[in-house]
Amino acid sequence: MRESSVKNPCDNLIGVSAATQTLRVELEQAARSDAKVLLTGESGVGKEVASRVIHQSSRRAHMPFIAINCVGIPESLLESELFGHVRGSFTGAVRDRAGLLERANRGTLLMDEVCEMGARMQGLLLRFLENGDVQPIGADRALMDLDVRIVAATNRNPLEMVRDKSFREDLYYRLNVIDIWIPPLRQRREDIPVLFDHFLRLFSARRGTPPPALSPDALAWITNYDWPGNVRQLRNTVERLVVRGDGETVTAEQLATRMDPSGVAAAAAAAPVALAADVSVPHTVADAVYDRMVKHRESFWSAVHAAYMVRDLTRRDVRAIITRGLQETAGNYKMLVELFNMDRGDYKRFLNFLRKHDCQLPFADFRAVKSWHRELPGARVRSRHFVASSSEVRH
Ligand SMILES: Nc1ncnc2c1ncn2[C@@H]1O[C@H](COP(=O)(O)OP(=O)(O)OP(=O)(O)O)[C@@H](O)[C@H]1O
Ligand SMILES: [Mg+2]
Repeated sequence: MRESSVKNPCDNLIGVSAATQTLRVELEQAARSDAKVLLTGESGVGKEVASRVIHQSSRRAHMPFIAINCVGIPESLLESELFGHVRGSFTGAVRDRAGLLERANRGTLLMDEVCEMGARMQGLLLRFLENGDVQPIGADRALMDLDVRIVAATNRNPLEMVRDKSFREDLYYRLNVIDIWIPPLRQRREDIPVLFDHFLRLFSARRGTPPPALSPDALAWITNYDWPGNVRQLRNTVERLVVRGDGETVTAEQLATRMDPSGVAAAAAAAPVALAADVSVPHTVADAVYDRMVKHRESFWSAVHAAYMVRDLTRRDVRAIITRGLQETAGNYKMLVELFNMDRGDYKRFLNFLRKHDCQLPFADFRAVKSWHRELPGARVRSRHFVASSSEVRH
């Protein structure tokens, strides 16, 4: 994080709860070794922040930290991104290109959303973890003796995925040498006002205005709310408040209406009863259909597909529904399949339907805070090529 120039990397992890204090200790312990770490926890709890703390507290701190998000990258591109390629090894490989494993040498590589990797990539990653060799695509020899610390993160339950055979058990145990779970914000409510205050100051300072005051009911609202999108939702909500604020005291009502939409559907169900009415979500046909799926567990096929086919829903409605869903899943179409109560095997059919009817939206638009690779200032290379091509990958 570049938000505060503090000496102790753990200070970047804001929070005062017992859970956050324990987390700091776990991260510091992890930083003392080179063991692989598997970070788990709901979306937005701070897994990437934690991985950076590990890197910055470790002996690798002055070497590159590179993060790659494994979700939505076609296997062949992911392989080339990780392992690199030599010129001419496939169409478009016009020059040799080092992979991220090579670029992260002596540093740390965060493999974000690691559970989303397909079977072939899981196999290749396992091979690297077992023998340390990196074979760029098309190369006749492997690069030896790379020294990369791997930190993996997922918001899934990896053990469940091992059980249903969508994630390799041997890879799971290889990655899970140190296992760190970050609890959701609603299970460490003492952190909420501290984080809120931190972001309020941060965004106000950036805007050059004094932080707005909070009314007592606003403070109660903040702490009682369940924050289903966790710290990310809280941060985005504070940013909206500051950007749209007029210098007046912030009330509970304003909070409810300026809520970051990520997690709002879940929030409506999870908010304290007395406050639920304050969560004002504009109610359109698209919203009603969305709620039927997300709250009442109706399938996309009956709620949206069937209605669209008989023209009860317009293309605009379907696009609005997909937009809301992608906001919820931070651009992840696979999670959307689950959110909309389809079988996992329906993924292709779902995408085909969206593509055919021009309702497939670029997932990258929903992942503003999750660019493919983010590197600390010390890192040498920025992966421009892939950042550019990622917007073309419609997933
Ligand atoms: N303890 C914390 N202190 C300060 N900022 C935090 C903290 N936890 C999370 N954040 C901020 O919240 C946002 C989400 O955090 P992060 O990206 O680390 O979550 P994540 O668990 O990796 O989410 P996802 O599973 O969706 O990738 C970021 O802007 C991050 O800076
Ligand atoms: Mg993350």
